[in-house]
Amino acid sequence: MYNLLKGKKGIIFGALNSSSIAWKVAEKAYEEGAQFTLTNTPIALRFGELDELAKKCNAEIIPADATSVADIENVLKKSMEILGGPVDFILHSIGMSLNVRKGRTYDDLDYNFYMKTLDISGLSFHKVLQVARKLDAIKEWGSVVALSYIAAQRTLYGYNDMADAKSILESIARSFGYIYGRDKKVRINTVSQSPTKTTAGSGVKGFDGLIDFTERMSPLGNADADECADYCITLFSDLTKKVTMQNLYHDGGFSNMGMSLKAMRQYNKSFDDPEDISI
Ligand SMILES: NC(=O)c1ccc[n+]([C@@H]2O[C@H](COP(=O)([O-])OP(=O)(O)OC[C@H]3O[C@@H](n4cnc5c(N)ncnc54)[C@H](O)[C@@H]3O)[C@@H](O)[C@H]2O)c1
Repeated sequence: MYNLLKGKKGIIFGALNSSSIAWKVAEKAYEEGAQFTLTNTPIALRFGELDELAKKCNAEIIPADATSVADIENVLKKSMEILGGPVDFILHSIGMSLNVRKGRTYDDLDYNFYMKTLDISGLSFHKVLQVARKLDAIKEWGSVVALSYIAAQRTLYGYNDMADAKSILESIARSFGYIYGRDKKVRINTVSQSPTKTTAGSGVKGFDGLIDFTERMSPLGNADADECADYCITLFSDLTKKVTMQNLYHDGGFSNMGMSLKAMRQYNKSFDDPEDISI
């Protein structure tokens, strides 16, 4: 513990269970001295697991569907009441695709589901920022982080319409980052995280193969949820005050790799005669 967030106040969206990245961020933020509120959808709250985290971190839970502007307004207003004023940090750790859940492929999307994916996983970030700005809910030099994935830049089999949502998410960080930075010194970044075993992560088609592939490709190996939380804490701390409008890869080096020895060895195993691969 470094007391990196001593005296800081925040809002954490998206802790579902103890595997969630947001859950780990909450635990670490608490250890680092922060005080915060937790929020998730009423359905997620019905699972009841969040109560355990709230108790542990001495945090209040405020239900909200992040696609609803009214719900977000309520979260921000209540959080300011509970925490005694504007906050220093917000974590947006939200993602969901009904197309992925229902097995609809990218060339056979249900468009109602598609709009929902974009709204939940992309536009909700804009809604949080717009409401925060209107309510003046983030202090000067505050920090906002949303979680992203490299499918925003590169095509990865099975990530489906979530890739489009992540592209929107990262673009919002840049567009709003300019405005909020210029006017209020608030910084806005996305963290592009390795595949991670969570409820949302495990829903991606071929997840086990993907996580093995990225582990072999990354010189430092995949980053896990705890390590992701550590990185988010640094971004909420005063040590990263001039970092904004960035998509920050937290992936063990995967994003800059083309082929690794470990991946090549595994790939060659799929051929009867590895010498024949050039034919
Ligand atoms: N797990 C991975 O492999 C991975 C990799 C890169 C990025 N991410 C991103 O990390 C973030 C957190 O996901 P996670 O892996 O911790 O999984 P998770 O399933 O624990 O978290 C996803 C959260 O989104 C919440 N959510 C869904 N719909 C919502 C809505 N309408 N309003 C408010 N909240 C809603 C869920 O209740 C849940 O808490 C997501 O943005 C995800 O895309 C995950």
